[in-house]
Amino acid sequence: MTKKEKKVNNTNIETNEKMNKIISFCKRRGFVYPSSEIYGGFAAIYDYGPYGVELLNNIKRFWWKYMVQFTDNIIGLDSAIFMHPKIWEASGHVSGFSDPLAECKKCHFRFRVDTFLEEMGISVDEKMPLEQIENLFRKNINKIKCVKCGSNEFTEIKKFNLLVESNLGNFSSDFDKDPIYLRGETCQGIYVNYKNVLDSTRVKIPFGIAQIGKAFRNEITARQFIFRTREFEQMEMQYFVNPKDEMREYKKWKEYRWNYYLDMGIKEENLRWYKHENLVFYAKEAYDIEYNFPFGFKELEGIHARGNYDLSQHSKFSGQDLSYTDPITSKKFIPHVVESSVGVNRTFLALISEAYTEENIENDIRVVLKLKPELAPIKIAVFPLLKNKQELVDKALEIFNDLKKIYMCEFDDNGNIGKRYRRQDEIGTPYCLTIDFDTLEKNEITVRDRDTMKQEKIKIENLINYFKLKI
Ligand code: GAP
Repeated sequence: MTKKEKKVNNTNIETNEKMNKIISFCKRRGFVYPSSEIYGGFAAIYDYGPYGVELLNNIKRFWWKYMVQFTDNIIGLDSAIFMHPKIWEASGHVSGFSDPLAECKKCHFRFRVDTFLEEMGISVDEKMPLEQIENLFRKNINKIKCVKCGSNEFTEIKKFNLLVESNLGNFSSDFDKDPIYLRGETCQGIYVNYKNVLDSTRVKIPFGIAQIGKAFRNEITARQFIFRTREFEQMEMQYFVNPKDEMREYKKWKEYRWNYYLDMGIKEENLRWYKHENLVFYAKEAYDIEYNFPFGFKELEGIHARGNYDLSQHSKFSGQDLSYTDPITSKKFIPHVVESSVGVNRTFLALISEAYTEENIENDIRVVLKLKPELAPIKIAVFPLLKNKQELVDKALEIFNDLKKIYMCEFDDNGNIGKRYRRQDEIGTPYCLTIDFDTLEKNEITVRDRDTMKQEKIKIENLINYFKLKI
């Protein structure tokens, strides 16, 4: 089990203009919708619209390429969301995966005390015992007001476990007393399959297992749009190493993961390292990569050197030998783990924050989503210059139908060309093609670049090669 986020900048998200713009942009342009809206909504859960799902998929593909395809010794896994309840005992989640919670006595609003105090500028240590948090809270009670009703009468602080329970048919008598949880993190599925992977493939230490999947947490305060939600997706990679190599591999992974974000198109000035000072007893070193969200620098990814805690715990609780025998030295050891763990949805928010741009053009605001072409939901939009000239529409459809076999494309014949460009700029489409009379006569298409807005003529027969280089 790893720590939960605790670093909070003092900026209030609700008053953050850029954040509000992003939230309304995401809804207006079909990226993110609040869940169950026609029923009045469902807190801390979001749905992803037509462009949102494309961006999510592109993020996951990008990560998979970096972590599985480009590496020689990392393989993929897709483990189930439901697992044996003992796994969450072994991992420490049943006893220790909790946040301090208080409730307003008047309106019963519940909130997470540590983040609340942090937002007031009162620092709360990650490992601070509950009584100490309670003392801090009571000491500052004169300054604390319920954000809903303004009262300052609260219940005692209690530990609130973040695991989400289910009532999945636990018919086996073995599980009688143990609730079955929805997984709180994807990496437990990796640890419990470590031996299967070792036995069924030809991997040798060092090797990694990568997985993308949903995780669920009963977050108490989940009010930062898709930054912290109760259902989210993680991309996690656990790298199993010989203990003597742990810190060398750790350094390597830190560098690799930093460069991954730069390659995604994130500016280096918007990234920074956060070093965990209060490590859990088994950890060797732990850093987060933080991104400069509109509400300040906050955790995007955790990269941790975890020692052999995870496999040792699962070995102890399952009774299985999870040690590894070095094929050269014949020495036996429990592999140590270097972990890289990042949220898909948090990456989504970082990318949108990074890419969302407003430009002043001829007294008009151009909203443009400057995503790297590889990540853009739609790569190419195809327009006939005039929708009432059938020969232009036919030619545009022919080109659209060819290109869509390779790229995610959109066809648009609605409104003037300027408006069509703006619609595509907003959703981040890097290239727009206009089919005009030159296309019919000279086989030439106008290609317009999203960022420079420059246009160039490309011969139809060169289009595929042109985009191969660009996207
Ligand atoms: N296996 C390690 C682990 O789960 P974590 O710091 O709790 O560590 C890893 O989570 C990453 O998952 C975070 O850096 C963040 O990107 C994402 N994440 C965690 N909780 C989240 C939540 N409630 N909503 C969205 N993303 C979350």
